[in-house]
Amino acid sequence: MPDTDAPTTPGPQEDVVDLLLAQHARIEQLFLLVIGSTGETRRDAFDDLVKLLAAHETAEEEVVHPLARTLPGGSDAMVDDRLDEERQAKETLKTLIAGGVDADGFDVGIILLRDAVLTHARYEERYEFPRLRQHVPADRLRSLATAVRAAEATAPTRPHPSAQTAKGNLAAGPALAVIDRVRDAVRKPSQS
Ligand SMILES: [Fe+2]
Ligand SMILES: [Fe+2]
Repeated sequence: MPDTDAPTTPGPQEDVVDLLLAQHARIEQLFLLVIGSTGETRRDAFDDLVKLLAAHETAEEEVVHPLARTLPGGSDAMVDDRLDEERQAKETLKTLIAGGVDADGFDVGIILLRDAVLTHARYEERYEFPRLRQHVPADRLRSLATAVRAAEATAPTRPHPSAQTAKGNLAAGPALAVIDRVRDAVRKPSQS
């Protein structure tokens, strides 16, 4: 079985772009694992995906897109499109969480979410990340990585069994807690 708990983030020199790129790769792996598995493996992989997606998209929403708005060569419309995509992905994710991995619509829903999230990630990689590297000081990019990592590290690796419903479905609580932690961490810029 693949190691679903592998860290996405090694090294003190890693900046926030390295971190987000590693998370994109990890998100893609977890989608593959969820889609290609059943039973407990699927449930665990989906839990990991929910946690990582919540942390990742919240960090981008709080840090990357607002920063991208201030840089030369971008446009507000482009940033607005990315934020819309993230809002839609979170809504789909909440629906999938509410129904659980055994729900009738889960197989179709997870594939639609995968396609939307990966297309969104490619847009970020193509239009936003290069401009961050080009225009934002390296030490600032590194300190943002530290803040995002710290927030992610405080999230539970697996929801407590009491967070699951009688049908064994993951409750939305843990994912929402991750969103709050990431938001708090990235709003304190001198924490590194
Ligand atoms: Fe994003
Ligand atoms: Fe992203």
